[in-house]
Amino acid sequence: MSLCHLNGQYLPLAEARVSPLDRGFLFGDGAYEVIPVYSRHPFRLAEHLTRLESTLAALRLPNPHSAAEWSEIIGKIIAGNAWDDQSVYLQITRGADAVRKHAFPPASVPPTVFLMTEPLPSPTPAQLENGVGAVSAEDDRWLHCELKTVALLANCLLRQRALDAGCAETILFRDGVLTEGAASNIFVVKNGLLLAPPKNHLILPGITYDVILELAAAHAVPHEVRNISEAEARAADELWMSSSTKEVLPITTLDGQPVGTGRPGALARRMHALYQDFKNTVMRRG
Ligand code: PDD
Repeated sequence: MSLCHLNGQYLPLAEARVSPLDRGFLFGDGAYEVIPVYSRHPFRLAEHLTRLESTLAALRLPNPHSAAEWSEIIGKIIAGNAWDDQSVYLQITRGADAVRKHAFPPASVPPTVFLMTEPLPSPTPAQLENGVGAVSAEDDRWLHCELKTVALLANCLLRQRALDAGCAETILFRDGVLTEGAASNIFVVKNGLLLAPPKNHLILPGITYDVILELAAAHAVPHEVRNISEAEARAADELWMSSSTKEVLPITTLDGQPVGTGRPGALARRMHALYQDFKNTVMRRG
């Protein structure tokens, strides 16, 4: 039975209850984070909390906790569960008013704060060996994709298209330009050059995205951050997806066509090795 946190209480997940009037339930009105934990050390907690702060500020939702308080709550959740490597889920909604109204509730209504954790699902050896498939779709989400809000219906519909096609991810293009995946960032490799779309309102500023670009810089991997056209993405030698739970995964088919040779590329293998090394030498030590 896993231990969760709900509004200051620590309790078994199966016993946690929120009101059906909660604005997270009624309106998708809330912010979230997914924080990977390696050997019980939350990875880049400060960066996750900074991104949370940006989302909360844009949602005009006061942050209910200081960084020190978040760190303490997250520490208790990690300690209270069985796994060394975990994926901590944190969500804050605008709370439950007495009525369903679009207008924000009075300031006296407290936010709902919920945290849970799951074992961290590392990519399987087969996924790393063969890569994963992707489909593509027009990015029809709203124009604030930089915010990590719980209103994820568009992302769920887009991700499900991939799953229905036996693939792992849906790569999104907006007006002929690559944005990201339904729940990941996307990288392109062409002629040994690593390309990443710029951080703007069209993509989530991924924490893993930052790690990959930092590793590229530290290990002299040629890289560029710029807009990538759909044509460039379709002609790529390699495509990768990245997220806190997927790390860095090669995409070897797009819409049923091979990406490059149709096998994980040399740079994907190198980045995977760099990432694993970084994880085991830095992330696991906290
Ligand atoms: N999703 N883009 C989107 C739309 C995402 O949902 C995610 C992560 C990312 C990668 O961000 P990061 O590297 O910080 O995990 C990019 C998480 C894992 C989720 O919703 O479960």
